[in-house]
Amino acid sequence: MAIVLSVSGSPSVSSRTNRLLRHLDQRLVAQGHEVIALDVRTIPAEALLGADFRHPAIVEATELFERADAVVVGTPVYKASYSGVLKALLDLLPQYALTGKTVLPLATGGSVAHVLAIDYALRPVLTSMGAAHIVQGWFTLDKDITLHEDGSLSVAPSASESLTQVVDQFSAALGRTPLLAAAG
Ligand SMILES: Cc1cc2nc3c(=O)[nH]c(=O)nc-3n(C[C@H](O)[C@H](O)[C@H](O)COP(=O)(O)O)c2cc1C
Repeated sequence: MAIVLSVSGSPSVSSRTNRLLRHLDQRLVAQGHEVIALDVRTIPAEALLGADFRHPAIVEATELFERADAVVVGTPVYKASYSGVLKALLDLLPQYALTGKTVLPLATGGSVAHVLAIDYALRPVLTSMGAAHIVQGWFTLDKDITLHEDGSLSVAPSASESLTQVVDQFSAALGRTPLLAAAG
């Protein structure tokens, strides 16, 4: 099975995007994948904003990308695009950090007016970084994500069904990755 890096690109402490990704991680783990979580907000600001390629946190993040067979990239929509902190991290990775990897792009946002931010803003960046296969992504409205005090999360049924579908398609695509198939 695959090693999946699950990257949350929200700077928010109480991030819906983050909680949604960690919720979906569980489904991937249940399907036999090893999931490594990376929350961009935990990377020191001086490393991200100072473009410090040699900072231990950036070196570590780069190694996590290298190790991964596949990457989930989740971002809140900010100003009709992906978040600035996600871009700050991607800018510090090698140009082709996604070479050979299967990628699932996900976004949360406040308005369906920006549902295409995944395809018009995020997808071109992922392509430029060499992603082998970017599967269908999904945009979830923030109002469809409810965070509970016990740390759990629920997603409105309409959104939940589509999210499950894209995660399962991503998981199935991992099984078809030539390198993984060859590894048995
Ligand atoms: C600074 C800022 C800008 C935002 N801009 C947009 C936007 O352009 N389009 C949109 O649909 N939602 C926008 N939103 C709403 C967020 O995308 C949405 O609430 C998202 O779920 C927040 O995710 P988070 O909790 O992980 O940060 C914005 C929110 C903030 C704080």
